[in-house]
Amino acid sequence: MKNILLTLCAFSVLLTACKTETKPKTDETKRGLIASKAMVVSARVEASKIGKQILQQGGNAFDAMVATELALAVAYPFAGNIGGGGFMVYRKNDGEIGALDYREKAPMAASKNMYLDSIGNVIPKKSTEGALAVGVPGTVAGMFAVHKKMGSLPIETIMAPVIKLANKGVVVTKKQEKRIKHYQDVFKTVNKDSMLFMANWKQNDTIKYTALAKTLTTIMQNGRDGFYKGENAKVLVNFLQANGGIITEEDLANYEAKWRTPVTFNYDDLKIISMSPPSSGGICLSQIMTMIEPYDLHKYGHNSLKSIQVITEAERRAYADRSFYLGDPDFVSVPRKELTSTTYLKNRMSSFSFDKATLSSDMSHGNVEIIESDETTHYSIIDQFGNSISATTTLNGGFGSKLFCSELGFFLNNEMDDFSSKPGVPNMFGLVGAEANSIAPQKRMLSSMTPTIIEKNGKLLMSVGTPGGSTIITSVLQTILNVHEYNMTMQQAVDAPRFHHQWLPDEVRMEPHSFDKTLVEQLKEKGYNINEKNSPVIGKVDGILVLDNGTLEGGADRRGDDTAIGF
Ligand code: DON
Repeated sequence: MKNILLTLCAFSVLLTACKTETKPKTDETKRGLIASKAMVVSARVEASKIGKQILQQGGNAFDAMVATELALAVAYPFAGNIGGGGFMVYRKNDGEIGALDYREKAPMAASKNMYLDSIGNVIPKKSTEGALAVGVPGTVAGMFAVHKKMGSLPIETIMAPVIKLANKGVVVTKKQEKRIKHYQDVFKTVNKDSMLFMANWKQNDTIKYTALAKTLTTIMQNGRDGFYKGENAKVLVNFLQANGGIITEEDLANYEAKWRTPVTFNYDDLKIISMSPPSSGGICLSQIMTMIEPYDLHKYGHNSLKSIQVITEAERRAYADRSFYLGDPDFVSVPRKELTSTTYLKNRMSSFSFDKATLSSDMSHGNVEIIESDETTHYSIIDQFGNSISATTTLNGGFGSKLFCSELGFFLNNEMDDFSSKPGVPNMFGLVGAEANSIAPQKRMLSSMTPTIIEKNGKLLMSVGTPGGSTIITSVLQTILNVHEYNMTMQQAVDAPRFHHQWLPDEVRMEPHSFDKTLVEQLKEKGYNINEKNSPVIGKVDGILVLDNGTLEGGADRRGDDTAIGF
């Protein structure tokens, strides 16, 4: 054993020494928006504007977070929400770091086999559409937790522009028109009565969110109780139960957001700070980056055959571990240290060869000794004081469960589908899970959300994250590598074509029309199954990069209506 360890160490020193420092030069003409002091990047211009306004009023990144998150609930109902949940990682200007988990929870009446029929098969759509798919929402509790611990402006100042926006209405974009149309049949099946999004909305129409404005006003006046207790809670519970749901007033009243310790690890001279369980994001990112660190990626070249091979094989191994070991740490023991240990990960990559793809069928999760003891949205903010946040929030699927509470004016999530309904049966992102992520009352479902902050030489370098279900982790990974290994600007890094592997199904998903045909053929020859059809979009990344001169560069993904705003 000792000999194996010594050999592994010697191998690692050799590989690290091989990492040359001849990286490509940054193309300064390809920078995104530059701001001198502060910046907000989010999925909608209205939300970025409101976040920036709060910063300009003297608010900090945490005040701006609350404003941006709630503004996305108005301007981007596809994923922005008060009926869902999310995660946030922060780094304050004094270097303090932390993370907030405002992930949904299974209701108390939930049970392990609630989505199975009498012979144990998963009932299609039961965990994805309608009231039974809904987890107890966490967003409002999350926002009040942030405000209480770190906010500096009164909640009225923060929420006033959001409520104003809801009353005034939001202009429909071309992409939004397409999305609403795409989901209208499901809206009709899921909702008993006609609702706001069943109308024939067209680009440049204005949708007014009057009911949501009223709900937000009650929340502003009563704090988190304006959502989790009292009249709004009663209306929500009655509505869910009338639609076959099981969430009770007690479920709502008991919901708590939780402060967590982020996952931190080093990659070259970077310190990466990312989300801890119940998100798999930080652990998987740490596993993948530790597995690929010894390889000379920048020498191989961006999206080159060798880079894709190394990254794909590390992804395959990390996702196999994800499916077996990861779940809500309040319910299962997650072997965080063991899974991210360098020795374990070196060993895990020992079966990798540039000659031939590893087959997922030949590979399962690794063995670690457990010591007892469509759709999401991301936004990044750096304030004028040097504080930063990275937050990813979601309803899970596009418009969540599609169930819209007209009286309160918002969509409910379908986050219950992120649990493993049955071991080995894929969820809507094709992810398989095991006991660690089985359903239990009040448990949080495993997530892939990866809000991440990066330090270099002890200073803030980047805030980054993305939606994209199972592809979140690999999209964040590629964006970091694009900047660090290939010296891209933030904007180039978020725009560059992406690929993805998640162990099962055993295929490399690649954005169509983005990769060279010869490269795809070479990958096939090595034994990789390539899928360029089913992934029109892999992630929709937003990020902010701190440049050497201290200014900020925004990266707002070309794939959406995403917008960077700063001053
Ligand atoms: O938490 C998760 O991993 C998923 N609910 C995220 C869903 C998502 O990103 C959908 N966006 N495309």
